[in-house]
Amino acid sequence: MSTTMAFPRTTDEAYAYINQVATPTVHDFKVMVMLEAAGQALYEGLAADATNENVRQLLSNNAIEELGHAERLIEVIRRVSGETFAAPARADNPYVPAPGSVPLSRGFLGGVVTGELQGEALYEAWAALQPDAEVARLLRLNGREERTHSERAQQALDLLPA
Ligand SMILES: [Fe+2]
Ligand SMILES: [Fe+2]
Repeated sequence: MSTTMAFPRTTDEAYAYINQVATPTVHDFKVMVMLEAAGQALYEGLAADATNENVRQLLSNNAIEELGHAERLIEVIRRVSGETFAAPARADNPYVPAPGSVPLSRGFLGGVVTGELQGEALYEAWAALQPDAEVARLLRLNGREERTHSERAQQALDLLPA
């Protein structure tokens, strides 16, 4: 593991990369911090598109929790390496979508329903490898909330006109 290893350049590359990580290094946790922080921005943009108040609330709740996921991962990095890592500012985070580039749609939400479940499975797999029980707990908390995000995304999808 090298802390100078380059980060994936795009959001798609970052997801493709992170989803195949079986044994996460500190570098991998940093990629995940950036994806989670970007997830907050993504959900905020989707929520801003919503005309239905319930849809807006479901997506806003997900946005808030993604920031919490980034914060838990920063604590994980501190515990496993002693390093203090900070999520990049939104303008400097390469995984934050450009404003308006990801409009709210049934098709996109369908992908979110699946992607969040993938996130849960990834966190569960990573948690199972951790010798530090607190690190495992933090990863599992993120994983459980990803399942909730999938459920909320499905609820939002069901509220959008076909
Ligand atoms: Fe998350
Ligand atoms: Fe999520």
